[in-house]
Amino acid sequence: MKAKEYLAILQKTSEVLGEAIHIVDAEGRTIVYNDAMARLEKISVEDVLGKPFREVFPHIPQEESTLYRALAKGEASASEPQTYLNVYGKAITTVNSTVPVEVDGKIIAAIEVAKDITEIKNMSDTILGLQEESLVSAGKVDSKKELKPAIKRYTFDSLIGTTSEFAKAIGIARKASGTDASVFIYGETGTGKELFAQSIHYDGSRKNNPFLAQNCAALPAALLEGILFGTSKGGFTGAVDRAGLFEQANGGTLLLDEISAMPYELQSKLLRVLQEDYIRRVGGSSDIPVDVRIIATVNERPEKLIERGTLRKDLYYRLNIVNINIPPLRERKEDIPLLAEIFLKNHNVRYGKELWMISDRALKKLDEYDYPGNVRELENIIMSAVSLADNEHVLNEKDVNTGSGYHQPPQRISDFHENESSLSQYMERIEKTVIRRHLLDNEGNVSKTAKELGMLRQNLQYKIKKYDL
Ligand SMILES: Nc1ncnc2c1ncn2[C@@H]1O[C@H](COP(=O)(O)OP(=O)(O)OP(=O)(O)O)[C@@H](O)[C@H]1O
Ligand SMILES: [Mg+2]
Repeated sequence: MKAKEYLAILQKTSEVLGEAIHIVDAEGRTIVYNDAMARLEKISVEDVLGKPFREVFPHIPQEESTLYRALAKGEASASEPQTYLNVYGKAITTVNSTVPVEVDGKIIAAIEVAKDITEIKNMSDTILGLQEESLVSAGKVDSKKELKPAIKRYTFDSLIGTTSEFAKAIGIARKASGTDASVFIYGETGTGKELFAQSIHYDGSRKNNPFLAQNCAALPAALLEGILFGTSKGGFTGAVDRAGLFEQANGGTLLLDEISAMPYELQSKLLRVLQEDYIRRVGGSSDIPVDVRIIATVNERPEKLIERGTLRKDLYYRLNIVNINIPPLRERKEDIPLLAEIFLKNHNVRYGKELWMISDRALKKLDEYDYPGNVRELENIIMSAVSLADNEHVLNEKDVNTGSGYHQPPQRISDFHENESSLSQYMERIEKTVIRRHLLDNEGNVSKTAKELGMLRQNLQYKIKKYDL
């Protein structure tokens, strides 16, 4: 078979596969380039096929190009995010896997398979932008030292519980707040990990600096690195210069939720950062000193996670300087009456009711339940009981609905909801949440809110109508 025929077969195969594929020969000339790749790079197949790769993509410095590295050095790379400009100057972010093809010890070609994550990347930029923005707007000052984060602040006063295991956890946390040591918290969902983390921060010397949180399971692995460490224009003309959470939380505390969801390599990068106290932005070349206290959480036993290979042992030991175990609610049922009473008081106010007490039978019912969603679930049960109760002063057994199953934890705005099938649905929910939050802060003042959000008043009004806010 002639070379030309082989190429035709390859080209067709790549089209049938549907993945975006780009193959260059030893000279860096494109020999296969399919429609999927053309769509991704917003360029036509004819513009690339048969041409020297460097001529078509002059913006990409050689040493940054995975195809070039595969050809010149025989380097394979897997799932590397790359941002670059296409011929029309449009920034595109892809996750690439690139392999050299070797025959008789000579590299004769390089193959690249790419996934377009431009939209996901824009989303992560949006999330970082929102974090930044909420810090600045909450601080209402531009001096970095005086920034106040916009998240709800919890202190040790918010932590309710008297059973010995729980009291022990609080004791350790109180001690930890007086130091700068990393903290590792283990507790099931809804046991109060965030409350502990915030209490430690706001009771310590970092309290006037930012407290930021990131759930490591909520973002695609390829983007987490950029979120944490920031991105730099560096070699890529298309990448934006942006500080990551480490820089944004400088002087303060960074809560890393579900740390075991972080990709294994990134865990070792994090370990290095913790040992050396500086970060390097993705694509950047300078070391930036950071001073950030880390609080990490997991909702499964760390030993199990290490055994399963999702949590690095070395990182665990580095973080586990202070170790806090929060017992699940079913193991401290003595705390239920106290917690229920406090939630009753709080939600009374919220619903304009005057419920004074919880009946013994209602308490018994609360005691018999297992609470897979822990304290958060108990709070939800009391909240719905308060809103439904028809007796004026007593919360009765029939108001307490423990049978409705697991009350799902509320999701952070950065988490995908299961029913969100498209990015635009997701973005709309973020937009709605942010607008509502700012409107509430400004007591419904549209002009002020529009100014804060940097949008036109008319535009904001349109959104308020659209989202029915
Ligand atoms: N000890 C406690 N005292 C009072 N309220 C509590 C306590 N623990 C949890 N809560 C309530 O439960 C809610 C959930 O707590 P938190 O967000 O800290 O849980 P979490 O462990 O971080 O859960 P997840 O793993 O789902 O993120 C809090 O908003 C708070 O209202
Ligand atoms: Mg949490």
